[in-house]
Amino acid sequence: MCGIFGYIGSDNNAADKVFKGLIDIEYRGYDSWGVSYFQGNSFKTVKKTGFLPSIFNFPSSSISIGHTRWATHGGVTEINAHPHLSCDNKLVLVHNGIVENYRELKKELTNHKIKSETDSEIIIHLIEDQLQDKNLKDAVSEVFNKLEGLNAIVISDGKEIVVCKKGSPLVLGKTENGYVVASDPNAILPLTKKLIFLEDGDLFSLDAGLDPEFKEIDWQYTKADLDKFPHFMLKEIYEQPQVLYNQIQSLDAAREIAEEIKAAFGTYFVGCGSASYTCLLAEYAFSKISKKHINFSIGSEFDYKEDFLTNKSLLIAVSQSGETIDVVEPVAHAKKRGVKIVALTNTLGSTLYRMADIKHLLNAGPEKAVASTKAVIAMVANILLYAYSLAGKLDLGIKVIEDSAREIENIIKRQDEIKKLADKIYNVQHIFVLGRGISYPVALEATLKIKETSYIHAEGFASGELKHGCLALVDKGTPVIVFLPNDETKAAVLANAMEVKARGAFVIGVGFENNPVFDFFFEVKDVGASSVLPHIVFAQFLGYFLAIKLGLNPDKPRNLAKSVTVK
Ligand code: G6P
Repeated sequence: MCGIFGYIGSDNNAADKVFKGLIDIEYRGYDSWGVSYFQGNSFKTVKKTGFLPSIFNFPSSSISIGHTRWATHGGVTEINAHPHLSCDNKLVLVHNGIVENYRELKKELTNHKIKSETDSEIIIHLIEDQLQDKNLKDAVSEVFNKLEGLNAIVISDGKEIVVCKKGSPLVLGKTENGYVVASDPNAILPLTKKLIFLEDGDLFSLDAGLDPEFKEIDWQYTKADLDKFPHFMLKEIYEQPQVLYNQIQSLDAAREIAEEIKAAFGTYFVGCGSASYTCLLAEYAFSKISKKHINFSIGSEFDYKEDFLTNKSLLIAVSQSGETIDVVEPVAHAKKRGVKIVALTNTLGSTLYRMADIKHLLNAGPEKAVASTKAVIAMVANILLYAYSLAGKLDLGIKVIEDSAREIENIIKRQDEIKKLADKIYNVQHIFVLGRGISYPVALEATLKIKETSYIHAEGFASGELKHGCLALVDKGTPVIVFLPNDETKAAVLANAMEVKARGAFVIGVGFENNPVFDFFFEVKDVGASSVLPHIVFAQFLGYFLAIKLGLNPDKPRNLAKSVTVK
């Protein structure tokens, strides 16, 4: 969470560079932003609430740091926005993370004027105190060691920038005329390809004497433009057939990972949010396709299940960003137990990518909208391919992925039907989504898309479960979406659809065959086990159109961020 960008050097457009960098990392948090730049002999600071504007003109300067915030401590206000300043205005700081012991530390600051409600501001005042008898680097080191929690900080006194981190990601870059620091390597690539990824406990002063070796990497900067699209979410939905074709270009990783699963004594798929649903889907896919049991866990719960792990276990971490701390932390713990780590991620150079023994990139291209679409589709496709490979049926796996890509092309052409549905149900309070077997995680993913983009309360169920309590919530006209694939679940799913219909629900069928129980039907051709992919795409369009109808920005839902690096 929170985007950090800083520059120091002999170029005199430091604040402009920082501002451009922040635009690339705004997905990390977008409730407010701020930039400090050193001019004359003092820092000037601009702070605003809301999204970054597309342009902002800064005066010339050669040192600048900036931040986009995802609020943890203190509301969304200009005062709480970063950078924070010391009492004498000579030091500026941006921070990502949570200082867990900030209340205790604040008690030491009796003679400071604290302006914000944040935990972050405490750090700068503590450093200010230490500067009485230390240089900046030593003062930062002294204070950083007192901070509990996972934190990354960037501080400047107008002469140098000092950076350090534990847990939260930071990357340094060396340009022709200076240094940059950012929380995402992609944001640095337009300026330089000479990078250092900070390890936990690293502390550097960015000045001419910076000694660690920068490694030249051959990655390309991937800029995401809207092109002709009004929103990234829509653009990313459209890109999905191509993303699926990309997955079957090279199957070496799928084969290798299937072999690892075969050899392991216990395989665990771990992810958060949408990625967690793909991990749950893996449990069904492996059982069905390869007759193999694998384990699923939500990232933030995995620490509590790690007692089982041995050096024969395999952990497959699934994450678009590769930075989600609720996945990174349990992976780090598992690694210490000798567990082999696979990272299935969209982000080259991310923390999970660097931690993993086997790295499998999703090749979905940059995903900008907070609600994940094409990355989820790529995750599911690869999980199916691993399962088919393990079953010795990779050819069938390729075929069903191709079929599903074609069916998604078809859905893109028929999106108006889903728009009409959104126009009909946009003002409801609750939406329920039902699926059985492999469609149960699809139901959960569908509800997440609806919630993230439209803020309508949606709940997904294994369809047999609804009658065990939540059926009480179904009323006349309550929309209930039912996924109906042509598999072993169809008769039971239809029976559950009847049960909700009998209570007055507005039943929306999504699947291979219409049925009188449905009040609205959206046909999705049967493409075998990969029918889950077009079913997910239906839900993406529904979430998108609900947001548009409600006048909401589907790319930046309230309260959320794309890369969640705090616990
Ligand atoms: C956030 C996003 C979700 C995403 C989840 C996991 O909560 O809002 O859309 O699914 O993080 O992200 P990851 O990058 O690990 O896939």
